[in-house]
Amino acid sequence: MSYKATLSRLDRESERSLTHQIVSTIQSAIESGELAPGEKLPPTRELAETADINHLTAVRAYRRLRELGLVSSQVGRGTFVRDTAPAALPGAAEDSDGTGWQRYVLPSVPESHGDRVMAEMYRHSQARGLIPLSVGYPSSALFPYEAIRGALANALEEHDSRALQYTDIAGLPELVEQLAALSAERGAPEDPGDLIVTTGARQGLTLAARAILRPGDAVACESPTFMGVIESVRSIDTRVVPVPMDDQGLDLDALESLLGREQIRFLAIQPRCHNPTGLDLAPARRTRLLELAQRHGFFIVEDGIYGDLRFEGEDPGSLRAESHGHVVYIDSVSKVVGGGLRIGWIAASGPVRDRILYEKRADDLHSATLTQLAMAGFFAAGEYEGHVERARAFYRERRDALVEAAEKHLKGLATIATDSPGGGHLWLTLDLPLDESELMTEAVRNGVTFVPGAAMMPDGSHLTHMRLSYGFLEPDQLAEGTRRLGRAIRSLAKRPRMSEALPIA
Ligand SMILES: Cc1ncc(COP(=O)(O)O)c(C=O)c1O
Repeated sequence: MSYKATLSRLDRESERSLTHQIVSTIQSAIESGELAPGEKLPPTRELAETADINHLTAVRAYRRLRELGLVSSQVGRGTFVRDTAPAALPGAAEDSDGTGWQRYVLPSVPESHGDRVMAEMYRHSQARGLIPLSVGYPSSALFPYEAIRGALANALEEHDSRALQYTDIAGLPELVEQLAALSAERGAPEDPGDLIVTTGARQGLTLAARAILRPGDAVACESPTFMGVIESVRSIDTRVVPVPMDDQGLDLDALESLLGREQIRFLAIQPRCHNPTGLDLAPARRTRLLELAQRHGFFIVEDGIYGDLRFEGEDPGSLRAESHGHVVYIDSVSKVVGGGLRIGWIAASGPVRDRILYEKRADDLHSATLTQLAMAGFFAAGEYEGHVERARAFYRERRDALVEAAEKHLKGLATIATDSPGGGHLWLTLDLPLDESELMTEAVRNGVTFVPGAAMMPDGSHLTHMRLSYGFLEPDQLAEGTRRLGRAIRSLAKRPRMSEALPIA
């Protein structure tokens, strides 16, 4: 029986809700191939008529199918079966463990282009033998195991019960002191009372967003930017407004014109060694940005996570050093020492600091005492600076390896859009008119992954970029991954494109 025939005979006596029956029917049709990838589903009004249900039930059923990752909706065009849907979630709508009802009760989560791209990327990345040029982790080969092992042992031996006890919401005082000393060393002295230890920089971003923003607020964000920034601000139902970048960093003319149209309370920016472009914000723009923040009254939320991983050029220092009143600074040890430690911090002054502290208490009370003690010991023993030096040399070698490989294997196919004087990523523009999402599928087929640029753009615009990361892989893997990527681009470029394949009427 066709799925439409099944829909027209829903069991109204069943214990399963009508929504549930519609979802199961359409899912089975997708899994059996009756509904093919890319195929359009009937409009909700037609579905309501076919199944003799009210329109809202039809809308709810499509919403659940979207949440299950089986279909996607495009405004003005309709709802379509997703390419990877059947393999991705076999049996997802079944209710063998009694949890199926939850899908009909939980609120819907708006899915961005970035979410879809990332979900597909993670799914692909489970395949064996892939070289993940998409992964922005630091290298495990560089972790300071010995020093951390010693610092953890000391924390337990010297502090015994304190190591396992709750500590201050703003952070373990010894670690806060060390972070204040590090800030001073970097030319941005901080009052320890302005520092709050967080569970990674990511929590810092979320806490700052929750402290400053309310649902519906407009947030300005660099485009492209780190995906986590977009997720953090969107988690409180804000409207993310992308501000483009050029080779000098954030386009301040675009920001100024935005400020003329919208009230912005929060601008998220990485002014040094930006992820993904590697760019620094040009000196004249730094000054103008701070003036704009004063004139229009908004917070600059500065992410400085790659600030210490610079191997070329002079460090311009943090924006925070130039304005404590307007800049909330976020950092972590994740990229230099290890992301698994989950040690980050925020520097903020005035009422916003109190709001952030309130959010920290509401979120997780404080970050883990044991790792804070260990990190405080690591800093106190003078291990950090030596490790940063090693990390710079280590990542520079990998950056050079990736640049060399890109110049060799991607010649005429993709161009390095911006230099990477530090950080962990290269940002490339495709030379050929190819769609980066189609390229991702082809890349996986060729044994390599990258981050499609649109995943890093708040509005998913511009399907012509790739982020390749060099931190996590060895030089020979970087070279081989890039070679495979070149092969994938060439093979996609050879394939006739939809528009070219269609006869001209
Ligand atoms: C620019 C940027 N900010 C923040 C983070 C999150 O850092 P953490 O692991 O400390 O939460 C990352 C992680 O990749 C990042 O690239």
